[in-house]
Formats: sequence, structure tokens, C-alpha cells
Amino acid sequence: MQIEAIWGPMTEPRRLARSQSALRSIVERTLAAFRATRRRLRPHVRALVVMAILFLVLSLAGGLSGWLAVAGFLVMAMVVAGRDPNDADGDEERFPARDPERARRAQGSTERETESWRLLLDAVPDAAVALDHNFNVMHFNARLEELFPKVRVGQPLSQLSRNPELNDAVEKAATSNDEVVVDLFERVPVERRISATVSRLGGRDVRRGLPSLIVSFRDLTEQDKLAQMRADFIANASHELRTPLASLRGFVETLQGPARDDPEARERFLAIMSSQATRMTRLIDDLLSLSRVEMRVHLPPRGILDLNEVASYVAQALDPVAAAAKIEIKVTKSEGPIRIRGDRDEIVQVLQNLVHNAIKYGREGGHVEIAVSRVLDGSPPQPRALIAVADDGIGIAPEHIPRLTERFYRANVAASREKGGTGLGLAIVKHIVIRHRGELRISSVVGKGSTFSILFDELGAVRR
Ligand SMILES: Nc1ncnc2c1ncn2[C@@H]1O[C@H](COP(=O)(O)OP(=O)(O)OP(=O)(O)O)[C@@H](O)[C@H]1O
Ligand SMILES: [Mg+2]
Repeated sequence: MQIEAIWGPMTEPRRLARSQSALRSIVERTLAAFRATRRRLRPHVRALVVMAILFLVLSLAGGLSGWLAVAGFLVMAMVVAGRDPNDADGDEERFPARDPERARRAQGSTERETESWRLLLDAVPDAAVALDHNFNVMHFNARLEELFPKVRVGQPLSQLSRNPELNDAVEKAATSNDEVVVDLFERVPVERRISATVSRLGGRDVRRGLPSLIVSFRDLTEQDKLAQMRADFIANASHELRTPLASLRGFVETLQGPARDDPEARERFLAIMSSQATRMTRLIDDLLSLSRVEMRVHLPPRGILDLNEVASYVAQALDPVAAAAKIEIKVTKSEGPIRIRGDRDEIVQVLQNLVHNAIKYGREGGHVEIAVSRVLDGSPPQPRALIAVADDGIGIAPEHIPRLTERFYRANVAASREKGGTGLGLAIVKHIVIRHRGELRISSVVGKGSTFSILFDELGAVRR
């Protein structure tokens, strides 16, 4: 019904209403054009009056035809009216008082222009501060506040950082066209290295309200730490390889020289050489394994596995090793399967590393227990899957516990080396646990034993 009314034949009153509204719109448009022309001509009234007098004189005294004089005046007026008053910057200055509204708008836009640098500074990704020509703080961004929590607008730079090198750099930059970069070593509240770059904006010629210098800071402490860790890692890895290699070379030389004709010594040395070669192979395998896990740490695992099944599998696989150390492995399973999302091979490796440690650092004649259970953890308590490996061995002193998952870190270097350890086992465990969004907890009592627990989200468990 409604569609018909819109698209149906036009009635007489509607046609009349249409023609009235069309007429009104023509009148309005004409009036608007007239007002616009008047507005455009207003600043040129004097010029138009002079032109009118000129054409009048030419018509009266110079013999110019009246029609030509009127046409000439209109052409000149059209040329003048055609100029966009917004283009006339000079007009703005010449007639500031005639249009106070425009003058106010113009002043506002200048203020906005001078203030927009603050927005730019806020968007700078580094910590940055703007200084006036007396080196007082004019503005700073949020990152600078993180670096210097006591910063305040108006305070001199020397109060922001007492570092004389920074103050020297600022003075140097104020008279130089090049930016000045300086390294600052802060000791309070924590030791850190910060690189500061001072750039001059316009020296003494700078417009009022604009900063004279911008100082940006980059905290390089984390970057230095990573570089140090990388260097340590290479040093540790090469040291770990160099030791068995040196030993191998020594035995080779002995076998080529003094022990050449000693079959008994040869047997003994070859056995040691074989164990050293095995150690080097293990080290390289562990390094490769660690780098593989690190590369995949951001990829969530896709498989599904049952922790009870993994516990039984690892206990069985390591039973001969435990038996050789006179240690018994006990498995305590949960009721029914506990399924988690994970990569089975990686979880097997985690458990193998933990059980292997428990055997290595366990007590002869002692026990290693692998326990799988469901626990309520966190606040508010949430149901989670737990797998724990406990031993009754030597235990770990509390000062070592936070560092155990660092690469090559050992609580007891000699004991670990003697047992063929490379110090990478727990680093691999940590990375795999992170990839599985799990949590590793270590508790230990020296002389009594240690427990390594890992918490995972159980598949299908309802989280509150
Ligand atoms: N169950 C444990 N009891 C006592 N100390 C342990 C135990 N597990 C680990 N540690 C200590 O933590 C250190 C680091 O363990 P991690 O597994 O990373 O290296 P590792 O066992 O020495 O060598 P790898 O596992 O690479 O063969 C060990 O050297 C050892 O000092
Ligand atoms: Mg280990």
C-alpha cells in the first residue's frame, strides 16, 4: 500500500507544492549568491569606487560610450569578486578588525598549530622531553615519566637528571646544527644504560611557545642484557664442547705415543673416549632441541594427550636407568584419564628430563615418584591438571632454585659434569612448559629431596 503511494501518479496539490518549493529554492540560491558576492566585494569597496569614477570620467570627458563604460566596470568588478578572500593572507592582516569572528578563528588555529607539537611528542615511541631555551621542561610524554618518575613541567633539566654528561650534551646541542648523542649510566634506583639524543629545533630564532630542544631517551639495559646472555651462551656452549674435545685429543695423543703397545690402557682409554663423544653428541642434541622449542614457543600445540599414559610410558622407558642407580620409580595415576592439549613428544621429553634428574640427583636405594592428579589452584581456585616428579635425594639450596632453568646453570657443577649433565635439561623443560601455557614449580629441602610440579589446563574442565 505504502509503496503504491510513493510510486503512484502525482496528484494536483502535490504538483503545486513541488513548483512552490522549486521557486523558493531558486530565490534562496540567488540571495546566497548575492550575499557571497557582497562579502567578496566588501574588502575592495575603495578600489571599486575609484574604478567607477574612472569609467565615469572616461565616458563623460573621454568620449567612451556609456554602454562600454558600464561593461568595462562590470568586468573589472567580476575580476575582483572572483578572488577568494581566504587566499588573501594579506587582506587578513589589513582588515583584522572588520571580521572579529574570523580574526578569532585565525588566532585559534595559530594556537592549535603551536600546540600540535605536544601531540607529536606524545606519539614519539621513545621517552622524550621538550625544553625551552633556558633548558626547562616544557612538555614530556608518558614514556619519559616511566623513565624519570619525578619529572615536572617547568623544572630545569639538571633536576631531571644530575648526569653532567647530559647537561653538557644539551648545552652543546643548543649551539650546534647536529644532534648530540650521549650514553648515560644511571645507578639509582637500578643500574641501567640509557642513550640520550639531543636535537635543536630552532635555537634563539624559535617562535614563542615552541620548544628549543627535544631530548629523547632509549633504555638500552634490556638490549645489553640480551647481548650479554647471547655472549654467555656462546661462551658456555663452546666451553662445554671444548672440555670433552680436549680430553679426546689427549687420549688420541696418548694412544699414538706412550700407550701405543698397551692393550689394557687402550681398552680403558677407548671407553672414556666413547663416553666423551657421547657427551658431545648429547650436548649438540640438547642445543638443537632447545632452539627448536624456542622457535615454536609462540605456536600453541595442537595434539591431545593423557598425562597418565605419558607418566607410565616415561617410567617404563627410564626403568633400566633407575635400576642401574638402584632407584625405584613409582607412578601414582589419577582416576580416569587427564587430558591436556599438547605435543606428546615434548611432554615426554619434559617428564624424561625431570625423572632423569631425579635419578641422577637421587639417593641410592631411594624412590622417584611420578604423580598425576587434579588440583584446585589459584585465586579463585580453578581445577587444573598436575604432574609432579618427587625424589628423596640431595635436594637443592634455595638460592639456586630461581636460576635452575637458565641455560647451563647447575647447582653443583662438578656433580652435574660427573653425571654427564650439560645444564640444559631444565631450560628445555621451561620452554616446553611455556609453549603449553603451563606452570613449573620447584620445591626442595636440602638433604631431603626435591619436587618438580607442572600445572596444565585440563581439557574439558569447567573453569569458573
Ligand atoms: N632433582 C634434583 N635434585 C637436585 N638437584 C637437581 C635436581 N634437578 C636438577 N637439579 C640441579 O639443577 C641443575 C640443572 O639441571 P638440568 O637438568 O638443567 O641440567 P643437568 O641435569 O645438569 O644437565 P642435563 O639435564 O642437560 O643433562 C643440575 O645441574 C642440578 O644441580
Ligand atoms: Mg638434567
